[in-house]
Amino acid sequence: MAKLLLALVLLSALCGLQTAHAAGRGLLQAAPNGTITSFVPVRSTVQGYLLVTDGVTNGQVTVIDLRTGAINETLQLANSSVSVYASSMGRYAYILQRTANVTTVYDSQMYIEFHEDHWHLEQDAAPGLTTRTIPGAAPTHFVQRARNAAIFHDQSGEVTLLNEVLFENATYTTRSFKVDPHHGAAVPLRGNFYVVTHANQTAVAAGRSSLPSGVLVHFENGSLAYDGASTACPGLHGSATNGYHALFGCRDGILVVTYTAPANLTHTKIPYPVAGVYTGSLYGHAMYKTFFGSTSAGEDSVGIHAFDPVKLTATLVINATADGDIISTAYDPAGAFFAVLSAGNDGTLTLLNPQTGAVLRRATGVLGAPAPEAEGDDHSAVLPVIQAGLGRIYISNPEAGVVNEHHADNFELLRAFNLGGHPYRMAILGPTQYWDYLYQH
Ligand SMILES: *[C@@H]1O[C@H](CO)[C@@H](O)[C@H](O)[C@H]1NC(C)=O
Ligand SMILES: *[C@@H]1O[C@H](CO)[C@@H](O)[C@H](O)[C@H]1NC(C)=O
Ligand SMILES: *[C@@H]1O[C@H](CO)[C@@H](O)[C@H](O)[C@H]1NC(C)=O
Ligand SMILES: *[C@@H]1O[C@H](CO)[C@@H](O)[C@H](O)[C@H]1NC(C)=O
Ligand SMILES: *[C@@H]1O[C@H](CO)[C@@H](O)[C@H](O)[C@H]1NC(C)=O
Ligand SMILES: *[C@@H]1O[C@H](CO)[C@@H](O)[C@H](O)[C@H]1NC(C)=O
Ligand SMILES: *[C@@H]1O[C@H](CO)[C@@H](O)[C@H](O)[C@H]1NC(C)=O
Ligand SMILES: *[C@@H]1O[C@H](CO)[C@@H](O)[C@H](O)[C@H]1NC(C)=O
Ligand SMILES: *[C@@H]1O[C@H](CO)[C@@H](O)[C@H](O)[C@H]1NC(C)=O
Repeated sequence: MAKLLLALVLLSALCGLQTAHAAGRGLLQAAPNGTITSFVPVRSTVQGYLLVTDGVTNGQVTVIDLRTGAINETLQLANSSVSVYASSMGRYAYILQRTANVTTVYDSQMYIEFHEDHWHLEQDAAPGLTTRTIPGAAPTHFVQRARNAAIFHDQSGEVTLLNEVLFENATYTTRSFKVDPHHGAAVPLRGNFYVVTHANQTAVAAGRSSLPSGVLVHFENGSLAYDGASTACPGLHGSATNGYHALFGCRDGILVVTYTAPANLTHTKIPYPVAGVYTGSLYGHAMYKTFFGSTSAGEDSVGIHAFDPVKLTATLVINATADGDIISTAYDPAGAFFAVLSAGNDGTLTLLNPQTGAVLRRATGVLGAPAPEAEGDDHSAVLPVIQAGLGRIYISNPEAGVVNEHHADNFELLRAFNLGGHPYRMAILGPTQYWDYLYQH
């Protein structure tokens, strides 16, 4: 069997293929003369870190070394709920501490060195929290495109732009500009444009808080580049980008802002397929034209729609009537799938083809018990979260105090991290975009 695997992977490697049979994925070690010296199946070669926040203990983030499964460090940050996001290079984690008015940066110290036909994973120093802090009142929405990320600060209206490539420069300072304070988001597009939600001016004038009415497109210096959609998205909530299109959920459909050239920003709308529904969370990936969104009708979950920003169509790809309320979603950073956790049948995990929305794999019972009900206004129930990367899917179970690690190819339960407490949001650091490349040495 081992020989067969090696032959299979060898063939793929020699043919320059970057996909292999599911059973044949792994890291190929080769001598400088090209002779294959070893093949280690990916099952045993995960290298990276999993950061896990606690849903109850403010400011607590546990760092698991995925190579060993051991806890590398438990960070105790400011007294605030925390959200954690992996940078697109897989090296850093952004930790947003909303009620402490600060974002801090964790450095895995893992980076990839590219050569003509292979890459190395390097780590020259011990991982840990950096001294880089990004101040701002109520950092809430975080959206990333390639190396650029934008944080929207709800209480100051400050949009902070970050470029992770520059983090190694100690004197690098982030740039920012201000708009009206509101519950908003800033979404990067190609060409260094940022689509920023626009506060409902009627509500601002009346001194009330309200969901945004539309968007404005800004240059990175804050100047206005496009003002045609400022009231085009009543009740805006939810945003996503693939670089060319930025999508926003509105009461009357999905707003699509399209970039084709610096002087050519346009907007249009994808109508909802039926009346009375609302998409309040959207997801996009730089490799794909298709977007996904979690749609509801009043309090009821409708399911996941796939949105085509060119054909302007919406297609239901996961039906909540059958699979239960949508609990959490995650893209594989390398683009292999879009994962959805829904509440039906003690937890249903569905992997969708990120381009077509077709079901790739599905399993029920992944939570091992009925999913907790999302509590109304007091948010007292902390729901499970899924995260994907490195050929794995992680499912946090706050009630059970555990994070389960599944193989993405067959959902096999590989490890259970019994952290105690209420493990909640997660970020995966390491070679998340390249783990599937066979030729590493
Ligand atoms: C290639 O290098 C490996 C490891 O150094 C060595 O064992 C092998 O004999 C070499 N093969 C050739 C054809 O030189
Ligand atoms: C954390 O990881 C770093 C780098 O792998 C290592 O040097 C350090 O010893 C680890 N600490 C613990 C407590 O495992
Ligand atoms: C954290 O903040 C909350 C209020 O937001 C307060 O009730 C609590 O005592 C604080 N905890 C600590 C450890 O400071
Ligand atoms: C965060 O900023 C807001 C608005 O400026 C302020 O009211 C609040 O006291 C700040 N919180 C902390 C912990 O500094
Ligand atoms: C580091 O950042 C500073 C300030 O942005 C800039 O002036 C300098 O050129 C940068 N250095 C390098 C090596 O990129
Ligand atoms: C901001 O950048 C744009 C595009 O480069 C430029 O046209 C504009 O003049 C700049 N605005 C300011 C205030 O510098
Ligand atoms: C702005 O807010 C007002 C008052 O709440 C509301 O009537 C109006 O529909 C909103 N406009 C948009 C475009 O969201
Ligand atoms: C401008 O954008 C519109 C709509 O996205 C597109 O049809 C048109 O081809 C674009 N023109 C250029 C010059 O990019
Ligand atoms: C969702 O599933 C339910 C129950 O199977 C069915 O009645 C309904 O038509 C489905 N909705 C759509 C839009 O396919």
